[in-house]
Amino acid sequence: MPRLLLTGANGFVGKILTGRLQGAGYEVVALGGNVSPAQSIADEYLTCDIRDASALAQAVADAQPTHVIHLAAISHVPTSFKEPLLTWQTNVIGSMNLLEAIRQHAPDAFTLFPSSSEVYGAAFKSGIAVEEDTLPQPLNPYAASKVAAEYAFREYFRQGLDGVIARPFNHIGAQQSPDFVTASFARQIALIEAGQQTPVLKVGNLEAIRDFLDVQDVCDAYIQLLGLAGKPGHPLCLNIASGQSRKIRDVLELMLKQSQTPIAVEQDPERLRPSDIPIAAGNNTLLKQTTGWQPAIALETTLSQLLDYWREQVKTTP
Ligand code: GDD
Repeated sequence: MPRLLLTGANGFVGKILTGRLQGAGYEVVALGGNVSPAQSIADEYLTCDIRDASALAQAVADAQPTHVIHLAAISHVPTSFKEPLLTWQTNVIGSMNLLEAIRQHAPDAFTLFPSSSEVYGAAFKSGIAVEEDTLPQPLNPYAASKVAAEYAFREYFRQGLDGVIARPFNHIGAQQSPDFVTASFARQIALIEAGQQTPVLKVGNLEAIRDFLDVQDVCDAYIQLLGLAGKPGHPLCLNIASGQSRKIRDVLELMLKQSQTPIAVEQDPERLRPSDIPIAAGNNTLLKQTTGWQPAIALETTLSQLLDYWREQVKTTP
């Protein structure tokens, strides 16, 4: 049975991906800063901070994976502005620590590195859906750290490690932190409906345009990318995008339409960023042609499930 080491296993994507990987026939060794059997359905659990090189090397030696997915990262853009050093230490040095550990203890493992569409940054300004060979022009510490980590992976791939880099666009769903836009809006709508927040929904930049995917569709793409293991000459970097970009204002409208409660919208200066990518549009042809992947879940369905999730959370959380 293939044995997959999943870093960041206790995060939003990690928790969902664990079950999906098991369903696809992988034994999952979960690695997280604070993973415990009570929190995870993984087959095994390892606790380790990826900034600790020797602890991570020991974890990889213990896990003996045939596959690795490296999700662990600081992934919130505003946090990366506030904590650039933590972001670079986690996203870049953490990735280097993992690559060295793999080289020493699991050199035959296939490694998937989820980077981010954020790496394109200023290159999005062309308005054309970016392809993978577009030169990254990051606009925040998070994106810059992901570009640096991508180059670390590429160097190990050049030296013979088998693996692939994915550049997922915004992925959303139940259990995502309300630090991110759709979860923030859904949580506020649920709180307002329950009478726990005045009927004013706080927002940041509504003019930004993003490509949203259901987290389940992104997990599907990751699992299909694992199928590239051992295939000579496979692509090294692929976008994961729906191919349809939407204005945040329109996404908010879709969500407000699903509520009976009158809600006013107010811009909160705290939610504006030192720089924000105005438009993100991605070309997904390479992923579709390479793996046959297709996004299956409509944005309206994801948003409705997200609202229901937050309505339940608000009901059950004191
Ligand atoms: N978080 C947040 N909260 N964003 C808001 C809000 C708000 O109240 N109002 C408007 N926005 C705008 C942000 O300014 C941004 O333009 C957009 O909504 C999306 O913000 P986020 O959900 O925080 O995501 P992101 O685009 O910065 O980054 C996400 O997607 C990347 C992939 O494209 C993250 O998940 C990254 O980790 C991921 O790599």
